[in-house]
Amino acid sequence: MTFIKPHGGKLVNQIAEESYSPFAQHDIELDSMALSDLELISNGAYSPLKGFMNKDDYEAVVESMHLASGLAWSIPVTLPVAEGKARALKPGDTAVLKKDGIIYGYIEINEVYKPDKEKEAANVYLTSDIAHPGVRKLFSRHEYYAGGEVKLVRRPERDHSNEFFLDPKETRAKFAEKGWKTVVGFQTRNPVHRAHEYIQKSALEIVDGLFLNPLVGETKSDDISGDVRMESYQVLLKNYYPEDRVFLSVFNAAMRYAGPREAIFHALVRKNFGCTHFIVGRDHAGVGSYYGTYDAQKIFSRFKESELEIKPLFFEHSFYCEACGGMASHKTCPHSSEHHVILSGTKVRELLRSGKRPPATFSRPEVVDVLISGLKKHEEELLKK
Ligand code: ADX
Repeated sequence: MTFIKPHGGKLVNQIAEESYSPFAQHDIELDSMALSDLELISNGAYSPLKGFMNKDDYEAVVESMHLASGLAWSIPVTLPVAEGKARALKPGDTAVLKKDGIIYGYIEINEVYKPDKEKEAANVYLTSDIAHPGVRKLFSRHEYYAGGEVKLVRRPERDHSNEFFLDPKETRAKFAEKGWKTVVGFQTRNPVHRAHEYIQKSALEIVDGLFLNPLVGETKSDDISGDVRMESYQVLLKNYYPEDRVFLSVFNAAMRYAGPREAIFHALVRKNFGCTHFIVGRDHAGVGSYYGTYDAQKIFSRFKESELEIKPLFFEHSFYCEACGGMASHKTCPHSSEHHVILSGTKVRELLRSGKRPPATFSRPEVVDVLISGLKKHEEELLKK
């Protein structure tokens, strides 16, 4: 059995032993992005990171998509702190990492620095437009960053069943148990529609297993909620995928909407989960029209294959073509766009809200049922508030 090594060679483990209880001089309040990052650093999903980035790593990543060590890494993973707190924190101090009164971990402060957020926005998100959800988030966070190694002492509360939250060492064990030598990872923040299914199954034709790894951390408010999506994945897998070829567990990170740079990040994290291949389709991790349709594919050519090791599998914009009578893409279909069933996420939500069903050529009926009942529940809850 050959296994792809984690990024940097070794799976990081910053999960504290039960007896761990350091003296802490400070406490730092986490936002939900930092809380999910704390867990993903600690369970090795972000290997080789052992903590929130120090200035040298942060600047190298922003500048050149590499850590100070020279290892490829495309997204800053940072711990924002307010100015007053930044002044109090000294190198060598320990701070409790809390959210809403609950202690989740500790950080040993290495340094505190003031980032150049304009540059971070321009380089990572390729825009300084505050209407971009990632940029808005970046500027809404505190002005200073604290760097240092972390320890996790408590897992965040789960919105979904615990069975879907696996650490990289557990997904690696699962893939080994299934006898998969090659595994393709699929990132998604949406319900799986026919186009997603098509590219997943096309990829599955050339590897042993598919790792369906939806992101369920913080997303923008008009994305469909994680719990509804989880239900939709389960009905889809039950009805349309061979059980022994697919494995579903979640990626608990916040969505950055950083398009190309996030595609690299998504691929590296899936390598840590044990994937040998990673799907990058149309406008991966994009939002609005900030990125070109295939920019998230093109960015891979800026790295040597040996730097990333995980192999990206690129797919063109896919759709159902009425004239072909099946799924196709611009690469395989000779017909004009009037034959293509293409609906934007916004259009699908509009249809669902007005009680109309997207066609079966766009989305499996079982998935549509879940989305409609999820939407109804959501609206009832809003009415109660
Ligand atoms: S993402 O933000 O997580 O990338 P989404 O869930 O829509 O959004 O996409 C998941 C993956 O499927 C990404 O790799 C994306 O590029 C790809 N994808 C989505 N829709 C299509 C499509 N119609 N054709 C080809 N690839 C697609």
